[in-house]
Amino acid sequence: MSWVRVAPADVIAPGDYATVELESGFVAVFNVDGEFFAIDDVCTHDGGGLAGGAVEDHQVICPRHGARFCLRTGKALTPPAYEPVNHYATRVVDGMVEIEDGQ
Ligand code: FES
Repeated sequence: MSWVRVAPADVIAPGDYATVELESGFVAVFNVDGEFFAIDDVCTHDGGGLAGGAVEDHQVICPRHGARFCLRTGKALTPPAYEPVNHYATRVVDGMVEIEDGQ
């Protein structure tokens, strides 16, 4: 396990997002009302990117076909996605957003 720096916290404004690449692939990091959530940036339906999808009530909506994923758990909440995405712990250290790479 290790912590991976994403970006300065003040660069990812509430409602905004950033992406970071781990060995396992890209992760999307969302700022929801000042709290950071990180999930794989790959929809389990057909591989669409989730970064940039609309966020409502701690759910991100896949821009391709509209599946919703819980930002807290990675769980797929609505079809056409049924499998969860990985989610990652986040923290802010010295003003930098970090995610825990468990791979
Ligand atoms: S690729 Fe995400 S819902 Fe189809």
